[in-house]
Amino acid sequence: MRVAPETSTAARLRALAALAALKILSRAAWGRLRFKGLRVVVPRGCFAPIFVSTALLSDAAAALAKGGLAVEVGAGCGPLALSLARSRGVEVVGTDVDVRCLRASLANAKLNKLDALYHPVACAEASCLRSGAFDYALANPPYLPLDQRLSLPACGGASLEVYRRMLADAARVLKQGGILLFTASTLTGRVEGAALLGERWALFDRVRAYAWRKPSGPSPSRPRGTRAAGSPA
Ligand SMILES: C[S@@+](CC[C@H](N)C(=O)[O-])C[C@H]1O[C@@H](n2cnc3c(N)ncnc32)[C@H](O)[C@@H]1O
Repeated sequence: MRVAPETSTAARLRALAALAALKILSRAAWGRLRFKGLRVVVPRGCFAPIFVSTALLSDAAAALAKGGLAVEVGAGCGPLALSLARSRGVEVVGTDVDVRCLRASLANAKLNKLDALYHPVACAEASCLRSGAFDYALANPPYLPLDQRLSLPACGGASLEVYRRMLADAARVLKQGGILLFTASTLTGRVEGAALLGERWALFDRVRAYAWRKPSGPSPSRPRGTRAAGSPA
């Protein structure tokens, strides 16, 4: 699998406009919200499940996953992980670098009586988890190709370096034959080697959900154009 960032000036301007809109909407979208029948408390500044990407990936995951163990890389305050735990009985480990949002994910798991199935752990990407452990990996990463200092939840790095690290590490912790489900948008760039599962319009772009299956065999590859934490480029 390969993700090539969108580098044109027009695309960068559209990404900046999308980021501005996201920031305006995020200012209003916090506190007590509902997502797919779950009660979700979103602290100010955490990514709220009002955007297309979370619902799109949640629907894709619910259609594909059947039991087993999943990881969500970049779980935020947990709506995606918790919706999968509830709809499919999947046990989910959620990682995030934002400890405040991750704490809210645990509170949300308790609020929805899903804490037996949800285990948050704070670390970058999936660096705290061992390789080859999970049946499914989910990632709704920051996918705008902009410097992450502009927004932790929305910007995946000017060269998508954070976005690509998150996907590569999600792939590392998958079992052979495990499935990585992830999002990108038309502003992210070109995704090759993954199956397109669905697409929805947002304000400035089309958001897409993809699936990639980790090859079975003695030396599984990692997604091309992505980079596992600590591995050579
Ligand atoms: C687009 S939000 C998605 C949140 C949640 N999964 C959802 O769909 O509502 C991306 C999340 O990735 C987290 N994140 C950003 N960089 C990260 C990294 N290097 N490792 C792990 N999580 C990261 C952000 O803090 C944010 O919670």
